Amino acid sequence: MSNMTNTTLENHENTLTNNPVNTSVGTLYGIGIGPGDPELITVKAFRLMKEADVIAYPKKRKGGKSYALTIVEQYTDGLAKDLLGLVFPMTKEENVLKKQWAQTVAQVWEKLSQGKNVVFVTEGDPNLYSTFIHMARLMNQLHPEVPVVSVPGISSVLGAAAQLNIPLADGDEQVGIIPATEDRESMRRVLENHDTVIFLKVAKVLDMMIGLLEELGMADCASVITKVTSGEETIWKDVRQLKGKELEYLTLMVVRKG
Ligand SMILES: C[S@@+](CC[C@H](N)C(=O)[O-])C[C@H]1O[C@@H](n2cnc3c(N)ncnc32)[C@H](O)[C@@H]1O
Repeated sequence: MSNMTNTTLENHENTLTNNPVNTSVGTLYGIGIGPGDPELITVKAFRLMKEADVIAYPKKRKGGKSYALTIVEQYTDGLAKDLLGLVFPMTKEENVLKKQWAQTVAQVWEKLSQGKNVVFVTEGDPNLYSTFIHMARLMNQLHPEVPVVSVPGISSVLGAAAQLNIPLADGDEQVGIIPATEDRESMRRVLENHDTVIFLKVAKVLDMMIGLLEELGMADCASVITKVTSGEETIWKDVRQLKGKELEYLTLMVVRKG
């Protein structure tokens, strides 16, 4: 076996063991746990949760329910884990965010500095518009000695395609994954330039998006889904009926032309 192959294998082994690089501080894992159905968790995510000292999960406020925790609850119940709820407020106020993030990273660091491995469960995939991205970046700035490992999960985007029973892209088709914003012109360009578009964070601009789709003659190409693949999943195939409705944050829109 060549040296090159050996190195590759060693690296692979490192990511498979629970304390890959540095034994004095714990490892921070960001693991994707899928969009809602507990069966859409990978075997690796399951193993890491089982082996972890601490399972950290995101929530919007103190005492609030965590969607991520609900997904993994059946696997963590009875494991006698240290469960660490981390608050990520839904605000753009810089001061509030800065203070909260400093606290959150300090909470995680406290465990890592004791040599404990922390598994941060993140809904969908940890590298797609996830709080884990910011957490990993801050941890790297403040405590560069902490090994950070991410484990992919099934994104809500992929869950939505399965539930709608449609392909996201075929052949040369182009697909866009876009956080919806109030910038109508930008949203129009996205729609014009792709065969399929998945709009995340769409709830806050739903009326504007429906108006735009009607204007472009694409309203019939759109579907909206909340809490995809979970027991509380709701699908709307006629988006016009959603005008004036307030939907929850965990809602996305799929627009597929043709
Ligand atoms: C911060 S992003 C996180 C995306 C996530 N990392 C993923 O891979 O699915 C949050 C947005 O993703 C979409 N989303 C995430 N989970 C969802 C779910 N279970 N059902 C529907 N939409 C979801 C919503 O549009 C929500 O506003």
